[in-house]
Amino acid sequence: MSDTITFDAFSAAHLDDALHLSQAAGWPHRREDWHLLFRLGRGVVALADGKVVGTALATPFGAVAMANMIIVDAGMRGRGLGRRLMTQAMAGVEVAEWRLTATDDGLPLYQKRGFVATGRVLQHQGVPLAQTQPDGVEWADAVDIEAIASLDRQATGAERGALIVRLKIEGQLAVIRRGADPVGYACLRRFGRGDLIGPVVAETAEMAQRLIGFLIGQSQCSFLRVDTTEAAGLAPWLTAQGLAPVGGGISMRRGGSLG
Ligand SMILES: CC(C)(COP(=O)(O)OP(=O)(O)OC[C@H]1O[C@@H](n2cnc3c(N)ncnc32)[C@H](O)[C@@H]1OP(=O)(O)O)[C@@H](O)C(=O)NCCC(=O)NCCS
Repeated sequence: MSDTITFDAFSAAHLDDALHLSQAAGWPHRREDWHLLFRLGRGVVALADGKVVGTALATPFGAVAMANMIIVDAGMRGRGLGRRLMTQAMAGVEVAEWRLTATDDGLPLYQKRGFVATGRVLQHQGVPLAQTQPDGVEWADAVDIEAIASLDRQATGAERGALIVRLKIEGQLAVIRRGADPVGYACLRRFGRGDLIGPVVAETAEMAQRLIGFLIGQSQCSFLRVDTTEAAGLAPWLTAQGLAPVGGGISMRRGGSLG
């Protein structure tokens, strides 16, 4: 492969190559999973001989943005491509705070760019046990989208209305209400090898368990993944539902309340 690397804006034409790259890195994303992130943000590809050898996406959510899908072809690592991709993807996205979930591979790159670890993301997956349908959980209506976006904003500090609109189209949103108003929500959608439950926003761990339990019962896939934070305290319960811990990542932030 040529040593001459060029950079280009990520476009729909790069989706197939990007998918090969993430599969080679052992990531479960489908083309549709790439497409969801691509349509919500912007990105950069590194090209060698016209072939995509690196990717980085930036997804703005109001005052917060996520950096994600930072991948360099295994044969091209350690020569500054990851750094250059990340710098270019983040350039021009003016936000107060950047967030990402780091793998062990990515940690040095992010630490050197001023990202600070804020917690752990725990990944659970497997074939869940049958659930008794919990009380008080129902499917969201289209008119709930604004209230769900508002709940999500309060929980995450990010303006993820556009994401939630897409999740309603590509997946299913469940809510718990107080009166008519949603006070917790969770999403079920296809992702990777099966279904994924997330985001989950709830007032308490018990409410989160009811939302997740409902969606486990609704999933048509035998294989399910749920990502949660260590701080949420749901890991033992998820494991007891048949969803084994299989690793995770490190939540990192730059800027915002961290200064
Ligand atoms: C993470 C990844 C994108 C890094 O790509 P890369 O092209 O090898 O990264 P770079 O060569 O730009 O190195 C980035 C920085 O990390 C440093 N670094 C890399 N590995 C290191 C290590 N083991 N210890 C200390 N520093 C390290 C480099 O010196 C470089 O520092 P610099 O910017 O000051 O020069 C690549 O390893 C990868 O694709 N991994 C698999 C997918 C993945 O896990 N992605 C991260 C998702 S969060």
